[in-house]
Amino acid sequence: MTARISDDLTIIENQYINYNNLNDEIHKKQFGQYFTDKSIADYMSSLFINKNQDIKILDCGAGNGILSISLINKLSKYNFTKNIELTLYEIDNNIIPLLTSNLNKLQNKLNNINIKINIIEKNFILDNNQNKFDYIISNPPYFKINKSSEEAVRMNHIVFGQPNIYMLFMAKSIELLRNDGEMVFITPRSFTSGSYFKKFRDYLKTNSSLQHIHIFKTRNKHFKNENILQETIITKLSKKIIRNNTVTISSSDNSLFENYQEAEISQDLIINSLDKDIIIKIPTTKSDIKIIEKFGKTNNSLKSLGYTVSTGKVVKFRNNEFLLKEYKNKSVPLYWMNNFKQEKLEHPLNINKEQYIINTPNSKKLLIKTSNYLIIKRFSSKEQKRRINLGYILKDDIKEDYIGLENHLNYLYRKDSEINKNEIFIIGNFLGSIEVDKYFRITNGNTQVNASELMNMPIPNNLAKEIYELRQNS
Ligand SMILES: C[S@@+](CC[C@H](N)C(=O)[O-])C[C@H]1O[C@@H](n2cnc3c(N)ncnc32)[C@H](O)[C@@H]1O
Repeated sequence: MTARISDDLTIIENQYINYNNLNDEIHKKQFGQYFTDKSIADYMSSLFINKNQDIKILDCGAGNGILSISLINKLSKYNFTKNIELTLYEIDNNIIPLLTSNLNKLQNKLNNINIKINIIEKNFILDNNQNKFDYIISNPPYFKINKSSEEAVRMNHIVFGQPNIYMLFMAKSIELLRNDGEMVFITPRSFTSGSYFKKFRDYLKTNSSLQHIHIFKTRNKHFKNENILQETIITKLSKKIIRNNTVTISSSDNSLFENYQEAEISQDLIINSLDKDIIIKIPTTKSDIKIIEKFGKTNNSLKSLGYTVSTGKVVKFRNNEFLLKEYKNKSVPLYWMNNFKQEKLEHPLNINKEQYIINTPNSKKLLIKTSNYLIIKRFSSKEQKRRINLGYILKDDIKEDYIGLENHLNYLYRKDSEINKNEIFIIGNFLGSIEVDKYFRITNGNTQVNASELMNMPIPNNLAKEIYELRQNS
């Protein structure tokens, strides 16, 4: 029986080849259609607690049905004797025949279980479903949608900035869970820390309990059939709000779950908020847990210590008319990340990037006053040695009153006064430390190192004290 079941799922898994041949990339993108591997589907199914009672299952964005079929196969192995009502939402007509035929085969095979199947060929977000479900399983579509789209307007309570459709699928599913219901989703990691998911994280924390997060350590090896570069995670939530909840965090190298490890951690440690923004952290080792325990003990952040982080204003394609290869009268230095060699400023460089910018009334808004600044590169990936890459700008090294900073750079400064050199180096040593690098990797799953995330960076109490003392003495 077991062997036959896995064979059936392998057949379903391989349907993507024919399907992808018949449907072009544009179609796939339009529907956010990326199919789940069998090994991931089985892992997701294994996360639900077995119940021998009548069960209502929802699979939203069902595709070929691999997730719900895996889940029902799993139930059948546990001598499930009650009734199943399976609801599947799928908006793409092209895939409905495949979905229907896969479900018919399942129904015929498991004739000892009574399965009622309800395929709804509608938009999951817009449909008014009054049912409540025991289990919800989903690999929802992922793509950005317009804030004024019908879906975003309908889910207005969780929208902040530009929404992604997958977040709406998760929020609507939380809404449709029964009080003791559970849901398991595979999605990009971005909802755990991205600023556009802020309201959603708040909604998630207030309306559900986090049970399990699985993270794939390599970015491109989790969907073997699809070319996906996003970091992807599996999240299990329960509707019940559990006091002193503990969460299982697991990790594996790939979708075959090689190098699988798991640990339990208190929900309070991984979902807490600095500056009113809840961030979901994903520690994968014991040393990660120690770091978030340590950082969790402080209420200081770069922001609370009076620092601001902004982004360089010079965008080459927009401001080309002001940029110069050589120094000319009334021009000031323009710095790119290339100008920082092992954190030290080197200027001008003989490279293919303009090293000066004109200082005229028209270009003034692109310039900043010469001062002491800590530079932090805006993009880095998890494969790089360091996520936080720094550079120093020291006022004494520059003769012009103004400078230009290119848009791939963030700069840290204080609005109330100039930061002195020592203070800049103390902050730089801290942000450049291995500990901060690790903390950043636990909290950030995309390639951006954005200004607001940096401003929320916790500052350990001893460092905050050192900074205050330095300010008093200078
Ligand atoms: C990422 S695919 C996952 C398919 C399948 N569940 C799996 O795991 O392989 C998402 C599916 O959701 C469907 N979909 C996209 N937008 C939808 C919507 N608004 N309502 C219902 N289904 C939608 C797509 O056509 C696609 O088949």
